[in-house]
Order: sequence, then structure tokens, then C-alpha cells
Amino acid sequence: MHSIEQYREDFLSYMETKIATKEPKNLYEPITYILGLGGKRLRPVLTLMSAEIFGADYKKAYDAALAIEVFHNFSLVHDDIMDEAPLRRGKETVHKKWDVNTGILSGDAMLIYSYQLFEGYPPQTFKELMHLFSQTAMQVCEGQQYDVDFEERDDVSIPEYLRMIAYKTAVLVAAAMKMGAIIAQTTEDVQDLIYDFGKNLGIAFQLQDDYLDAFGDPKTFGKQVGGDIIENKKTFLYLKALEMGSPEQKRELEHLFSIKPQDAADKIATVKELFVDTNAVSRTLQEIEDYTERAFKTLEVLNVSEDKKQLLRAFGASLMQRKV
Ligand code: IPE
Ligand code: IPE
Ligand code: MG
Ligand code: MG
Ligand code: MG
Repeated sequence: MHSIEQYREDFLSYMETKIATKEPKNLYEPITYILGLGGKRLRPVLTLMSAEIFGADYKKAYDAALAIEVFHNFSLVHDDIMDEAPLRRGKETVHKKWDVNTGILSGDAMLIYSYQLFEGYPPQTFKELMHLFSQTAMQVCEGQQYDVDFEERDDVSIPEYLRMIAYKTAVLVAAAMKMGAIIAQTTEDVQDLIYDFGKNLGIAFQLQDDYLDAFGDPKTFGKQVGGDIIENKKTFLYLKALEMGSPEQKRELEHLFSIKPQDAADKIATVKELFVDTNAVSRTLQEIEDYTERAFKTLEVLNVSEDKKQLLRAFGASLMQRKV
């Protein structure tokens, strides 16, 4: 097995050989821009790691890993348009640096490119990867639509929220891992187990993303802190604060999430206080641990050596410590 850092470095070297700016520049430059901004690269690392855990040469998984990362970046470009986000990875978002139309079309091109990356796989593997990828991509769209619909709703339930984040975020993490297993030609049972592991980890990951969106350090977070509050996103923090707050706190929070003030600084500060005072923050941190723990539970039944499980656990645990 290789280290997480090794997978990341190898993936980045591979990506460099595949991504270049061509004509027309205004289509391809935003693609090299967003892919060059960095990011944690955790999905492709998971694909490579999973392939090797199940006995394949991890280099066989490069194209699938790149497809996942390109798709992820496509979804970020369009997500930033939908969320009106100014910052991504500490830099201007594509639609701010160029414009919305550029973001839409470069995003479309990335989506198409992500599909093309599967063309080199042998027929049976290709078919299985394609089926998973299309199903996942459709679920991401569904999750993104729920996310946007929820901005305007005041009756979102926690199960609805959990389904929304499972779709918009967790299924891609799950698919990243399952692709490694498909390339290694494991049994379906094994593929389902690693998918479940990735899905629970992905849910923990999105809960953490929600937490950092409000409480991350603006110097290191790389996105606009408070962006979800500005957009009235129905996050776990918000839903738990409503559930656990006093009638007075609930009223105040509901009011603040029905307005979009020009200057959002006061709104953000008050909402964050409410998140803390209602104990929604500690409850969210607990939930992140619970979903990570749930992911680790699925590992117990997986028939691979202990050192491989340890690598996956270390990866899951490191996600909980992240600040970006
Ligand atoms: C951001 O994903 C979008 C979410 C699903 C929360 P990442 O936090 O993995 O973004 P990068 O690729 O590391 O920037
Ligand atoms: C992202 O959710 C999910 C997708 C991009 C599909 P967010 O909107 O929370 O992601 P960030 O916080 O902008 O990265
Ligand atoms: Mg967003
Ligand atoms: Mg979003
Ligand atoms: Mg977010």
C-alpha cells in the first residue's frame, strides 16, 4: 500500500499530463483555472486507494479518479453560480473571474470530459463504471435541487436534510470508492460495503462542511465564511438550533432566515451565536463523529487485512480534523 500523500502526488502528476488549455481559451482556461486551484483531492485519492486495497494496480484507476475529480470540479463551478459564492479555494470563483455564461459552458465541458475519461476501460468494467457514474451524477443533481428548494422552505425536516446531503455530496464519495472496487473486479458484496463506507463518510464530510461554513477561519477556509447563512441554507446547524432552541430563539432564527439583508455581517454574527447558545454546534460535532463511526462499523465486516482498514480509518479520522 502507498501513503495518502503518495496517491495524491501521483494523481496530480497524472492530471497534469491530461489537462491543458486549448482553443477556444474562454472555454478551457476556466477549466485549467479551477482544476489548478488545488483542493484536497480526497475523492481521487479514495479511488486509487480503494483500487489498491482490493488488489488492483492503482494506476489502472487513474482515469476513473480523474473523472471523479473533474466531475466534482464541474459541480463546484455550477454550485458557486447557484450559491452566488464569490470565493473558492481562496480565489475568485469562475463566474466572478469570468462571467456566469462562461461558468455554465466550461462546467458543461468538464462534465463531458469526465465521461470521456472512461473510454479506455475494457467493456465490462466500462459498463459498470458508466452505470454507477450516471446514477451518481443524476443523484447529485437531485441533491442540488433539494438544497436550492430548501432555501425557500421553512418546514425542512432532518431526514429530508440528510437525504439532500447524501445526494449532493455523499454518493460521489461513495462512488469514488466503489469505482476502485469495480476496477479491481471484486464481488458485488464488497462493492456495496465500500460504497456504504464512503457514503457514511461523505455524510460526515458534508456535516463538517456545513459546520466550517459558519465557524471556519476566514484566513484558511478558502470560501466565504457565513455563505450558507447569507443564502438561508437549511443546514444541520440551523435545523438543530430550531429543534433545540427556546421559542424566543426559534422565532429569531426563523425571522433571520426569511430575510436577505444587503449587509449580512450582523445577521451572520447573531445566527452563529444562536447556533452556539442552542447547543446546535455541539450536536453537529457529535453527528459528524457518529457518521464517521458508522462508516468504520462497515469496515468491520470487510474482508481485507487490518493494515488496509487502518489506512481507511486514518483517512476518515483526518477528515474530522480538517479546517478546509
Ligand atoms: C466541497 O468539496 C464541496 C462539498 C461537497 C462540501 P471539497 O471540500 O472536497 O472541495 P475541495 O475539492 O477540497 O476544494
Ligand atoms: C456542495 O455543497 C455540493 C456540490 C457541489 C454538489 P455546498 O454548496 O455546501 O459546497 P461548498 O460549500 O460550496 O463547497
Ligand atoms: Mg456552495
Ligand atoms: Mg451548494
Ligand atoms: Mg458548503
